[in-house]
Amino acid sequence: MSTSVISTQNDLLISGLGKRYASTQARGGELQVLQGIDLHVPEGRFVSIVGASGCGKSTLLRLVLGLDAQYEGRILLGGNPISGTGPERGIVFQDHRLFPWLTVEQNIAVGLRNAPLSTADKRRRVAEHVELVGLQGFEQSWPHQISGGMAQRVAIARGLVNRPRVLLLDEPFGALDALTRSRLQNEMQRIWQAERITMLLVTHDVEEAVFLGDQVVVMQPHPGRIRRILDVDLPHPRNRSDPRFIALRDDVLGDFTDSTTEQRARSPATPAPRAHTLQMAW
Ligand SMILES: Nc1ncnc2c1ncn2[C@@H]1O[C@H](COP(=O)(O)OP(=O)(O)O)[C@@H](O)[C@H]1O
Ligand SMILES: [Mg+2]
Repeated sequence: MSTSVISTQNDLLISGLGKRYASTQARGGELQVLQGIDLHVPEGRFVSIVGASGCGKSTLLRLVLGLDAQYEGRILLGGNPISGTGPERGIVFQDHRLFPWLTVEQNIAVGLRNAPLSTADKRRRVAEHVELVGLQGFEQSWPHQISGGMAQRVAIARGLVNRPRVLLLDEPFGALDALTRSRLQNEMQRIWQAERITMLLVTHDVEEAVFLGDQVVVMQPHPGRIRRILDVDLPHPRNRSDPRFIALRDDVLGDFTDSTTEQRARSPATPAPRAHTLQMAW
């Protein structure tokens, strides 16, 4: 569980990361998707990544997860290059990807498939994580019997049950309605405070990025690269109506409204978006 001593043993260090895909449409037959990504995520930090669709956010997470070994640069976890997928790196996707033929409890246990634990320990671990995500009473439910928000809780529990050093989250709340999303953001904050593992969250939602992140990494496309990194120096739990929170959120939104202003200049009939309701429509 949590540890009060934060060491650097499990820092995630990404340097000079580049990724190209073969593409018949791209000039030279290759599409440069990521370029020159340098990112240091100290152990236990929550880092949010925002950026336009297609700027390589999911590609970045795939590389950190170890699904693709073809890249330039380095990805080190605790000083060691990552090699393939491994139990120290978990992931939660936008679609929960639960197995419909397994119960809630069994779906969470999938995260422990290869763990060197006794059956009793696995049971205990699953029960702890059912509780962590607030699903007590639904252990025997089937995925089709629970809501989208609950299914996403199961996916989070499955990602955490093996106690990874890093949890990667690829737009985990992107498919949920606004109310459920906001509730799960609060839950995520509580879970992170309880577990203190490193979290790398990709999101389209600037408010979500600032609400959860210690740092917000703003990416830009063509090729996907880091535009800037902002520190969110606000105590947890965060308060969405804190003027400092609002100022930071609007600061990040400003990175994206530039292009909206350009679009407006081209089509003067489009009304100006209100900054505080602006959620990126990518
Ligand atoms: N397997 C692939 N082969 C070729 N191009 C890909 C592949 N996966 C992603 N891409 C391209 O890489 C770019 C970045 O994709 P992605 O990482 O999914 O972006 P994001 O998650 O930021 O929307 C896109 O232009 C996408 O079309
Ligand atoms: Mg993506």
